[in-house]
Amino acid sequence: MIFEQLFDTKSSTYTYIIASGKGREALVIDPVIEKTDEYLEVLKNLELKLVKVIDTHIHADHITGLNELNKKTNCTRIMGAKSKSEVIDLKVNDNENIKLENIELKALYTPGHTDCSYSYLMDDRVFTGDTLLINGTGRTDFQSGSPYDAYDSLFNKLLKLPEKTLVFPAHDYNGKKNSTIGTEKNNNPRLQVSSRDEYAEIMNNLKLPNPKMLDIAVPANLKGLTLDQIN
Ligand code: FE2
Repeated sequence: MIFEQLFDTKSSTYTYIIASGKGREALVIDPVIEKTDEYLEVLKNLELKLVKVIDTHIHADHITGLNELNKKTNCTRIMGAKSKSEVIDLKVNDNENIKLENIELKALYTPGHTDCSYSYLMDDRVFTGDTLLINGTGRTDFQSGSPYDAYDSLFNKLLKLPEKTLVFPAHDYNGKKNSTIGTEKNNNPRLQVSSRDEYAEIMNNLKLPNPKMLDIAVPANLKGLTLDQIN
C-alpha cells in the first residue's frame, strides 16, 4: 500500500495520499489548495491516477485543495452528508463505505468540532479530522460546533475502536505524526473526563482566538473556490 502523509507548515495540516500500489488509483484526504502542485508531483512520481478526494469537514484555517484537484484531475469530491459545501460530487452517510480498488474507507459521522465532521476508518487506522487530535481535540466554539456532540463522537464512537487503531489527525502543532486510540484514551488530557458536562466545561472555557483564515476559508470552502478564484 502507498501511504503518504504530507504537511502544510502554514496551517499545520496533514494531507494523506493513499493507493493500493504504484500505477493504481489514488485518494487524497484533506488537501490544502496552495500545495496542489506538490500533491500532483507525488501522484505523478508514483504513476497514480487521482480518482477521489475527501475533506473531513469544512476547514476554517485553510482553503481546501478539493476543487483545484478536481479541476486538474476530474477526481470525485467527497464529503459527509451533512456538509454544506455547494460543490461536492458525492456525499456519504454515516457507516457508508468509500471504495478505492481493494481499499475501503468507512465514513463515521463524528460531529462536535463542526456539525459536518466525519472520520474515516481504513483497516488499522482512522482519519479523525479535527474530532480527535494527538493529545488534544478540535475546538467546538464555531461552525455549529457542540462540546456535547464532540463528547459523544469521541467517547461513543472513536474511543470504541480497537485500542491499537492508528490515529491520523488533520492537524498537529507539535510535530507528532500519529497516535493510537489506546494512547489517546489513556493520555489525552481532554479525554480524562467522566461526563459530557465536564467535557463541555473544559471546551467552553478554552478562550481561543479565532483562526486567522476563518472569514476567508469558510466561505471559500463552502463555495468550492479554485486557485484562479482566490488570487
Ligand atoms: Fe477544523
